[in-house]
Amino acid sequence: MRMRRKKHLDERLSDCAGRYINLRAEAVRFDAEEQPKYLCFRDLFGNDNPVELEIGCGKGGFICELAARNPDVNFLAVEKYANVLVTACEAAQEQGLDNILFLWCDAEYLPRFIPPHSVRRLYLNFSTPFPKKRQATHRLTHPHFLQMYKGLLTPDASLIQKTDGRVFFQYSLEQLSRTGYTLQSVSLDLHADGIEDNIVTEYERRFMEQGLPIYRVEATIHNEKE
Ligand SMILES: C[S@@+](CC[C@H](N)C(=O)[O-])C[C@H]1O[C@@H](n2cnc3c(N)ncnc32)[C@H](O)[C@@H]1O
Repeated sequence: MRMRRKKHLDERLSDCAGRYINLRAEAVRFDAEEQPKYLCFRDLFGNDNPVELEIGCGKGGFICELAARNPDVNFLAVEKYANVLVTACEAAQEQGLDNILFLWCDAEYLPRFIPPHSVRRLYLNFSTPFPKKRQATHRLTHPHFLQMYKGLLTPDASLIQKTDGRVFFQYSLEQLSRTGYTLQSVSLDLHADGIEDNIVTEYERRFMEQGLPIYRVEATIHNEKE
């Protein structure tokens, strides 16, 4: 689906310069023969704090709250559409959150830019389910993504997924198990189970208001460094 470009998008993006990196342009220029262009977190954040990643951050409500609660952690938030990314950048700017860097790109390009085994937690919140079989490779829990994440994650890192989609959730649990992740906790109704410190995302709020259950899984990998 092609999104309509928001009015004043370019001005708004330029007002948030420094809050995001346009890796989309970099990815297009990237030559397969070239060495990866890894981001230097120390230069970008000015410290060596641990790094966590959200893929598909949308308007950024979740990542901004998480970053505000955890000032000693650095957060990367990936979003492929500038129309929503700009709102997330503005929210981080308004709240003065210097421990978030937004990456404007498709998740598939991340191994070119994120150093191997450098991310200690990965959040997939209400990822697009792509229910049609022919679109299955776009699901962020498709085996090719789950394998790719292993290359980014630190040993004993965790992946946390939340979704409202029962079929998508079932698919994700199967793929996580098949690709060597260990399911640590599974909830079929997060809000009834009352998991502590849950941060409600924009999509989660919509589904809660409709009285729908939210599914959540936390999985770990035991990632031997190559
Ligand atoms: C359904 S929205 C959920 C937004 C937010 N996480 C929430 O829970 O409110 C999914 C978001 O993921 C983004 N997205 C989907 N596939 C992506 C990909 N391959 N790479 C980066 N972003 C992606 C979409 O553009 C969209 O903003």
